[in-house]
Amino acid sequence: MLSRFCFKSFHSTAKMTARHTPSINLQPPVHRGLTELDRSLFSVEVPVLAARVPAALAAEFRNGKGKNSLFFLPRTQAVVADPESPEYRRVLLAEQDRSSPSLQQLLAETKFELVEHTLKFDYDYWGADEILQAILPEDLLDESPTAFTLVGHIAHLNLRDAYLPHRHLIGQVILDKNKKVVRTVVNKLDTIDNEFRNFRMEVLAGDHDFNVVTSESNCTFAFDFSAVYWNSRLQGEHGKLVDSFSEHDVVCDAFAGVGPFAIPAGKKGCAVMASDLNPASASALKENARLNKVEHTVRTGNYDARDFIRKSVLDVWNEPFAPYSKPLSSKAKSKLARQATKAAQDPSPVPSPTSTPDSAPSLPPRRLINHFVMNLPALAIEFLDAFKGLYRPLYDLEGAWEAVEAAGEAALPMVHCYCFTKSPETAEEDILERASKALGMPITPQAKDYRLRFVRDVAPRKEMYCLEFRLSKEMVL
Ligand SMILES: C[S@@+](CC[C@H](N)C(=O)[O-])C[C@H]1O[C@@H](n2cnc3c(N)ncnc32)[C@H](O)[C@@H]1O
Repeated sequence: MLSRFCFKSFHSTAKMTARHTPSINLQPPVHRGLTELDRSLFSVEVPVLAARVPAALAAEFRNGKGKNSLFFLPRTQAVVADPESPEYRRVLLAEQDRSSPSLQQLLAETKFELVEHTLKFDYDYWGADEILQAILPEDLLDESPTAFTLVGHIAHLNLRDAYLPHRHLIGQVILDKNKKVVRTVVNKLDTIDNEFRNFRMEVLAGDHDFNVVTSESNCTFAFDFSAVYWNSRLQGEHGKLVDSFSEHDVVCDAFAGVGPFAIPAGKKGCAVMASDLNPASASALKENARLNKVEHTVRTGNYDARDFIRKSVLDVWNEPFAPYSKPLSSKAKSKLARQATKAAQDPSPVPSPTSTPDSAPSLPPRRLINHFVMNLPALAIEFLDAFKGLYRPLYDLEGAWEAVEAAGEAALPMVHCYCFTKSPETAEEDILERASKALGMPITPQAKDYRLRFVRDVAPRKEMYCLEFRLSKEMVL
């Protein structure tokens, strides 16, 4: 398609920039009603006036006399090769009226020849929004459907119903325009209300490959996006909670998913017990512990959260975690290597290269849990009943309860229970009432280390909170 400079067949507007250089808002040709993406329909040619300048003088002209007369279009050079001679360049001009006095004056002063140059644009020139604005029906142009969340190589859309008839075109354009990072475009098919919190999805364009690898909190996560729960919007919350743990802590994650709390906590040095009822999540969790080299401090499982919580206290007591040991500095590693070489000649006990150097005070094994993480906001509150009598088995075990009491004020764990409320004005009242009912005794703002943290707005009148409190002796015995 050849277009005259007035861009009649495009949407065009011209505005003046501070340097009085007209900038042209060139839009792709409109093809409403397309059912299949024909990229060739977006090829256009635009003739513009240009000064034909000897190559050696082009830069001087561009930055001097021609400076305020240059043609400006985003992603387009104002100085281009002259297809007729390598000795010349074409400097594209903003003024497109041959008879304009300013243009005449410029040519008279410089003696450069005025020529018509053809600019070529194709599908690749425009962005996804521009292409879709040229394709979608008029009544869908107010919003842009190109927003997506990237999970690994998958662009994940949540299209409004009105856009669904055009979903494959939208998917293809998004794929084309984000080729460097996107290999698959999917649309969410339903809301997350199943047990495992994953959602069905339809591939709109690209590979039918749901196995993603992504990163969060400096950890790598691999999982089947169609089979597990993953929400990139929780990245901040995951980081915030893990930051609040000490590296000496023992953390129990009862709804662990593929590990966005558990793996970073393990990497920090925490001893972690993590489980998820979804077999696909549990196996990805295990694999992610391996991928991030924390399989020795992150124990994984595939249990219902209630069972998992109930067995956790004894499990850790009976099979304690090694104490936290600071990763060795490269200096300490080289020292150990030197000692090992020396020992090869004069055999004597050599410290293991992964252990804390002799000078560090030796710490006891970790056998008491410090945190329970419960991130299943729709239901987690109902699982608080699992804490009733949780420490009874330790109480009955010789020497164990004494150890808990000897550990002092913070010997009993914190609970971090995520929840939703549909009563934003009375969120605290609503959440505490439900939590107290499940636990079978009142949880009040006076509870030890109590905090009710707002996490995010999920939908109109639906907010996510994290209820945090320390379990008391009365609760767990
Ligand atoms: C909202 S996701 C949170 C996952 C992860 N902790 C995160 O922050 O991304 C809730 C997880 O709980 C798991 N789940 C659902 N019911 C469960 C139950 N009764 N016991 C254990 N896990 C459960 C789901 O499979 C899902 O992975």
